[in-house]
Amino acid sequence: ESADRGQFRHFMLKEIHEQPQAIADTLEGRIAHGHILPAAFGVGADEIFASVERVQIIACGTSYHAGMVARYWFEDILRLPCAVEVASEFHYRNPVVSPNTLIVALSQSGETADTLAAIRMLKREDPKRPVLAICNAPESSLVRESDLVLMTRAGPEISVASTKAFSTQLVSLALLLLAIGRASGRMEEAEEQRIVAGLEKVPGRIQDALDHGDRVRELAELLVEKEHALFLGRGPMYPIAMEGALKLKEISYIHAEAYPAGELKHGPLALIDETMPVITIAPQNELLDKLKSNIAEVTARGAELFVFADERAGLHSADFTHVLPVTSHVGRISAPIIFNIPLQLLAYHVAVLKGTDVDQPRNLAKSVTVE
Ligand code: G6P
Repeated sequence: ESADRGQFRHFMLKEIHEQPQAIADTLEGRIAHGHILPAAFGVGADEIFASVERVQIIACGTSYHAGMVARYWFEDILRLPCAVEVASEFHYRNPVVSPNTLIVALSQSGETADTLAAIRMLKREDPKRPVLAICNAPESSLVRESDLVLMTRAGPEISVASTKAFSTQLVSLALLLLAIGRASGRMEEAEEQRIVAGLEKVPGRIQDALDHGDRVRELAELLVEKEHALFLGRGPMYPIAMEGALKLKEISYIHAEAYPAGELKHGPLALIDETMPVITIAPQNELLDKLKSNIAEVTARGAELFVFADERAGLHSADFTHVLPVTSHVGRISAPIIFNIPLQLLAYHVAVLKGTDVDQPRNLAKSVTVE
């Protein structure tokens, strides 16, 4: 088994480092010359995409967070209504699904019981309703039962905490954005070219973010004794904050929760004092100034602050504020993919320092095949 881990101490760290390659593989043969290639989603996809009026994403766990990021993209960039829901809620609440809704089931394993139950329910209701699977397991039940399939090519993911599967899901959802945009005429050619060019740069930018690993380990030392942590983000960084909090709780057993930064005053601010570290992500975008005022509110109350920032964000370290510049000039699509990397590393290093079973956290399974 140690041979499979190569030079790495854990599968999780190996899989974190495999992300540049996994993303390059997921993009391979699907984009070229500034365009999404017509065959990327298989036969019949364009016809479905041309008439889609709504997207419903269904998933669990980390896959659900990837879906939440995509909702920001689909509505903002394509003006296409998009809903995202955890499968276990969706399939028990008798949901209303309007015609011309594309169902997107996101799953690393393709065997998650609730995700399968949700698509089976939808198919029973209307066998003609199209279901697209974005999945990492080619032989899985989800792939067999879906009309359209896009494989994430992350390769086998052994660590229970999902890392490379999540990143390749985000890239796959960006490909879906391009494919729907093109088939439905909702995306200008220049925008398509910009997004494709940005995606091509993602593997290299992840590599750069991975190079900050030692600095992230130093930050992890400041978190290891804490009992709680609050993650804050805005826009597409809100689901990334949720994913960062999930990773930390899954493998380090530190209680972590994520909040949209704009909700601070509606509750979590009451928890802030020197025992509550706050972790946030600060890309250079139109919400940066708002995030900065949220940051000022938590530091004024004594919280130790950890910020993963754009190099141009104009944020600097101080006594209890630790700013780690991660990247710069990343667009709306690349930013969540890249800013997630230091959060993965943070959770990993905290877990290693705590001495937990990183790849096999207590009580958790890689694939939840029974409810
Ligand atoms: C479990 C795993 C998570 C995963 C979730 C959904 O909770 O521990 O890593 O995100 O299931 O799994 P799926 O295979 O459907 O993506």
